[in-house]
Amino acid sequence: MADEIATCAFAARLAPTLKAGLVVHLHGDLGTGKTTLVRAMLQTLGYKGRVKSPTYTLLEHYQAAGLHLRHFDLYRFHDEDEWEAAGFRDEFDGNNICLVEWPNKAQGLVPQADMEIRFEMLAGEKFSGGRKIEVRANTQNGRECLKALQG
Ligand SMILES: Nc1ncnc2c1ncn2[C@@H]1O[C@H](COP(=O)(O)OP(=O)(O)OP(=O)(O)O)[C@@H](O)[C@H]1O
Ligand SMILES: [Mg+2]
Repeated sequence: MADEIATCAFAARLAPTLKAGLVVHLHGDLGTGKTTLVRAMLQTLGYKGRVKSPTYTLLEHYQAAGLHLRHFDLYRFHDEDEWEAAGFRDEFDGNNICLVEWPNKAQGLVPQADMEIRFEMLAGEKFSGGRKIEVRANTQNGRECLKALQG
């Protein structure tokens, strides 16, 4: 991936492959482009509003292209009791598409990923924007997405 434009182009290809119920884990250090990818996917699906990082809210809801999307950022998730109390468990209902940044911060609570996307900043590329993006499918649903992405 060359730069942010390339990440957005990847998002534009990925967005149409998303299906109801999909759980996608987004891995990668701070500032590697997880939220940028989600924002570009929502825009591809026709979402017109602002897409802000759920850094403090932990969760943002969206509706676009007839899909219900949930964008989590669990970097600041600390209290396991909050998972149930905040209603997070109920969001993984087999219909919502859940895009989860920092899933490891709520390990054991976040359901298994159908698809995992891993961002890596290429050495010396912090400002020029070079990123490596890897996609991996773990389930049949995830594999179908990946196949659509590659096809
Ligand atoms: N190739 C690239 N892909 C995505 N973002 C890039 C790229 N190159 C530079 N950037 C810039 O890097 C930053 C990525 O920020 P973003 O909020 O998407 O990261 P994040 O992975 O969600 O971080 P956090 O873990 O803090 O939520 C943005 O400022 C974006 O403009
Ligand atoms: Mg983010």
